[in-house]
Amino acid sequence: MIELTINGQQHQVELPPDTPLLYVLRDHVGLTGTKFGCGAALCGACTVHLDGTAARSCVTAISDLAGVKITTIEGLDPQGRHPIQLAWIKEQVPACGYCQSGQIMQAASLLAQSPQPSDQDIVNAMDGNLCRCMQYIRIHRAIKTAAADMAKGGSHHA
Ligand code: FES
Ligand code: FES
Repeated sequence: MIELTINGQQHQVELPPDTPLLYVLRDHVGLTGTKFGCGAALCGACTVHLDGTAARSCVTAISDLAGVKITTIEGLDPQGRHPIQLAWIKEQVPACGYCQSGQIMQAASLLAQSPQPSDQDIVNAMDGNLCRCMQYIRIHRAIKTAAADMAKGGSHHA
C-alpha cells in the first residue's frame, strides 16, 4: 500500500512499487488531463509537479513519492485561472491540445522558480516539451505574457 497526495487529496493505492505515477493518475484516480506520449521521458506530455517542480510522471515510480505533493493540471488552480492558463487562452496556444497540459505544467514550474525568465531561460526550460502541432512560438509568447501579467500583480501566484 502506497499513500499518494494528489492535488491535496490522499489516495491509497495497492500497486507494484515501480508503477509509473502517470498510470495511477490516469487509470486509478481518474485524472486524465495528464497525457501519455512516449512513456520514456522524451516528450513532456505527462508533466506534473512534484513539490512544485515539473517532473515526468511516466518515469516516476510511485515508490518514490511518499510525502511528496503531487499536482496535476486539474490541481494547478482551483478555477483553472493560473496566470499561465489565462495567458494560454489570451495567446490561443493550443492546436490539437494533446501536449498542452504538459506544456502548462512545465511553464508554471518555470515561472514559480524564475518569475521573469529570459528568452533563453524559456527555451531551456521548455526544451523537453514537444508539440507535434508546432505551437512553439505561441507557447513562448504566452509564457512571456504570463510573466508580464504576474509582474503587474495580476495574480496571487508567486
Ligand atoms: S509520456 Fe512522459 S515524457 Fe513522454
Ligand atoms: S497542440 Fe498538438 S501536440 Fe501540441
